[in-house]
Amino acid sequence: MRDVDRVAPPGTEERQLLDGIPPDRFPRHVAVIMDGNGRWAKRRGLPRVEGHRAGIEAVRSTVEAAARLEIPVLTLYAFSTENWRRPRWEVLTLMGLLKEYLHKELDSLVEHNIRFRPLGRLHELEGEIQQGLARAVEATAGNTGLLFQIALNYSGRAELTDLVREAVRLARTGQLHEETVDEAWISDHLSTAGTPDPDLLIRTSGELRVSNFLLWQIAYTELYMTPVLWPDFRARDLIRALADYASRQRRFGGVPEEAEEG
Ligand code: IPE
Ligand code: IPE
Ligand code: MG
Repeated sequence: MRDVDRVAPPGTEERQLLDGIPPDRFPRHVAVIMDGNGRWAKRRGLPRVEGHRAGIEAVRSTVEAAARLEIPVLTLYAFSTENWRRPRWEVLTLMGLLKEYLHKELDSLVEHNIRFRPLGRLHELEGEIQQGLARAVEATAGNTGLLFQIALNYSGRAELTDLVREAVRLARTGQLHEETVDEAWISDHLSTAGTPDPDLLIRTSGELRVSNFLLWQIAYTELYMTPVLWPDFRARDLIRALADYASRQRRFGGVPEEAEEG
């Protein structure tokens, strides 16, 4: 049962929105490009890193809401392969916050029956982070609720590049044949293997771009862009996105259902 009361108390606007969503219109996979931390800080006259610090509360709130609403998969974009271009202090702070999050939130993930899965070129992250990630994966492996994926040192192009390299290697050693490679094989060999493609992609901070996130997987994903800056994002904003998604008509290249002829 969805724990609706804890996410949206009765009588609130977001509860009304939530109650209006038919159960079969909830997405199975929500992906989020968490953007706008720097601008959030700038508006307050604070250094950019304070925006990242404040963004942790938004992560906590969103993960918990997704778990309570029984959304099967949530994927958050936390650090792109291009984000290394940022000032050294900012990168160090982001990595520090990640360590802190893994340390502080593990118990809560376990408690909420959440399974944790990091995506990206994890071997390029510092050892302590790799260990923290491995610990979180192990501690939550038996959980059966929300699958919480976090993309770190991730980009869609890097993921596809790594897959092509792996395919070439397998082919060269006779373990992969041309006929084996189809769309399902590719999906099964990406870091998101085993999850449905995102139904809904949320991007905060008003930017209208995909910034190298899940390029293969979002072929038919519904996009929801909101001006809310990531540190301000809470369950009510997730619910607004879910309600909007529920009103969309998906076609996947076909015709709308009512137009189908016998
Ligand atoms: C998102 O916020 C956090 C990361 C990309 C790690 P930004 O840091 O990109 O914030 P803006 O876009 O500069 O406001
Ligand atoms: C996308 O945000 C990456 C993450 C949220 C981790 P960016 O702030 O890095 O994207 P651009 O540079 O504005 O496209
Ligand atoms: Mg940004």
